[in-house]
Amino acid sequence: MKQSLPLNTPINSAIVELKIKELKVPTIGEASIREIVQLVTSIEAATGEQYIRMEMGIPGLPPTQIGVDAEIAALKKNVASAYPRIDGIQSLKEETSRFLKLFMNIDVLPEGCVPTVGSMEGSYASFLVAGSCTKERDTALFVDPGFPVQKQQMLVMGQKYESFDVFDFRGEKLREKIESYLAKGNINCIIYSNPNNPAWICFDENELQIIGELANKYDVIIIEDLAYFGMDFRLDLSTPGVPPYQATVARYTDKYVLLVSSSKVFSYAGQRIGMMAISDALYNRHYPYLEERLKVIGFGNAVVHRVLYSMTSGTSHSAQYALAAMFKAANDGQFNFIADVKEYGEKAKIMKQLFLKNGFQIVYHTDLHQPVGDGFYFTIGYPGMKGSELLHRLLYYGISAISLGNTGSSKEGLRACVSSVSRSQFDTLAQRLEQFHHDFPIS
Ligand SMILES: Cc1ncc(COP(=O)(O)O)c(C=O)c1O
Repeated sequence: MKQSLPLNTPINSAIVELKIKELKVPTIGEASIREIVQLVTSIEAATGEQYIRMEMGIPGLPPTQIGVDAEIAALKKNVASAYPRIDGIQSLKEETSRFLKLFMNIDVLPEGCVPTVGSMEGSYASFLVAGSCTKERDTALFVDPGFPVQKQQMLVMGQKYESFDVFDFRGEKLREKIESYLAKGNINCIIYSNPNNPAWICFDENELQIIGELANKYDVIIIEDLAYFGMDFRLDLSTPGVPPYQATVARYTDKYVLLVSSSKVFSYAGQRIGMMAISDALYNRHYPYLEERLKVIGFGNAVVHRVLYSMTSGTSHSAQYALAAMFKAANDGQFNFIADVKEYGEKAKIMKQLFLKNGFQIVYHTDLHQPVGDGFYFTIGYPGMKGSELLHRLLYYGISAISLGNTGSSKEGLRACVSSVSRSQFDTLAQRLEQFHHDFPIS
């Protein structure tokens, strides 16, 4: 920033500037999540001050004990010495299939339920295979805003993508917008997260039906990222086998891959395990170009025997036992996994009020015809400030987040993640926001 450095901010602004310089990014708004993590950690170390850290979606809760216990038991049975099945241990495949039936009311055979090293590996494998099915369809479509690392995966693979911000295209408008891309004939898959990271908007069944119908019409694969499965807390999705169910495109098309992460719902991020659920039809679908390209018959075999085999040769054996046990307990109605993570929504409600009281706005504030729900993330803007500028200034006030620009959003603002902020920091957050509002009055 060109202006002189503000004095008397909670964090020494000269140190902030020095550390930003050391980061070597063109602008702070372009820094990746991990770069902001590194920056804030180094400012904290240099100043001894603690930030309100909202940049990274780390689960702020302990891991689900059922998983930890099952994993320890599996290790004691020496599973560590054996290579796991690449397509997953049988009990995990079966419990995943049951979980999808009981919490989504959809049918996916255990065969198509395949563990990956986090949903990150699941999206990588999905993009790679979807991009290898048909020669002329070489582009993925991102319904943004979205999780920035998935675009980094495309960059690493050298694959093409197009994207649009869904902000102005909710409801029936979504059809025409998506169709304008599909009609060109180059799109192989569509990816979105639901609930959405970063905006926390949730597509409803009507929108998912539109997406499913378009997938059928244009023969496109849908990659539905359910990293926040069941976490639209406006609905109670916690009882197995009883509606309402997690909304899904799987009700409207059979050309889908669902990505179910254990990181947030079970606070199991450290063990790096998620599930791909590939529809029965897609798993067995034969694409002539895929056979030519990867020397394998069928989408599912390409994922398992080519991509996952090449990348990681399966997913940690003990973590598979953990996830199988957590799904089983949820399926049997013995473990209400949603009750555990509701805390995120409750914290978001309080934190949003603190921001709103101090001149901030919620950028993605509505979800179709209702206010956006409270969950793992929310989006904030400040009148008259671009996202990058706001992030830069908030760093002086001991508050960190990531720029919305990084998520493919066309809006100015930031993504705030509630998970790493403890309730004991709320008073500090309130004081820092009051000072910020005082120092930058809204004209
Ligand atoms: C939308 C979305 N997809 C995928 C992931 C990554 O999940 P995993 O930890 O299972 O790799 C995240 C994590 O923040 C996410 O927000």
